[in-house]
Amino acid sequence: MAIFLVIPAAGAGTRLKSPGPKALVPILGHSILSWTLDAFAAVSFERVVIAAPPERLPEFERLFRGKAAVVAGGPTRSASVRRGYQALGAAPEDLVCIHDAARPMITASEIESVLSAARAGGAATAATPIVDTVKRVEGERIVATIEREGLYAAGTPQAFRADLLGRAFETGREATDEAGLLELLGVSVTAVPVSRWNLKITTPEDLELAEALLRRRGKGPAG
Ligand code: CTP
Ligand code: MG
Repeated sequence: MAIFLVIPAAGAGTRLKSPGPKALVPILGHSILSWTLDAFAAVSFERVVIAAPPERLPEFERLFRGKAAVVAGGPTRSASVRRGYQALGAAPEDLVCIHDAARPMITASEIESVLSAARAGGAATAATPIVDTVKRVEGERIVATIEREGLYAAGTPQAFRADLLGRAFETGREATDEAGLLELLGVSVTAVPVSRWNLKITTPEDLELAEALLRRRGKGPAG
């Protein structure tokens, strides 16, 4: 059984207000995507495929040559993941791991935990316990309070047996993440708790947090 990795990295970074693709925004002298690839370097993958913004393919190929293959991403995250998956050439019993380029703070041991849960049960996702009380708001009015007990925010990595993921894609249904797509098939997905440090860099504040954390982990600026 081989393990494959797909990294959706084709997003524009609208909320970050980045001038170019979010994956190439630097933190301490390295792009977000190179920090993410670094985190995965401790695990051995059969093949790593990055889904990049179609108009930036040559640049991504040059930057990540020798580390990953690069394919053109799609208009949505899920389209990008599908395109990456199609380029893998995974066999049904293989494992496919999916991880957002925008989550560079993931650790090797968290990646291993998600992979072993997927090996055991066929489908797993990283998840962090929700710490706030959640309200549904319409206009300015709170219309519902959702009990925090048992609530998790789903993140990545997510990992699946390739036959299950392939079947989920074939349904043509849409979900906000691949775990959700498998749930629609009735597949039971294991939630693997990971640290809240596994933030998705979305806004300028997240960029500051990530930089501070990388410094604390002893990762200095690039020389
Ligand atoms: N992504 C992708 N293809 C898209 C959109 C998103 O591969 N068409 C990727 C992003 O590169 C990111 C991950 O999916 O690694 C999560 O998406 P998000 O955090 O929303 O990133 P962006 O779409 O770049 O940010 P924004 O929504 O603020 O534009
Ligand atoms: Mg987006």
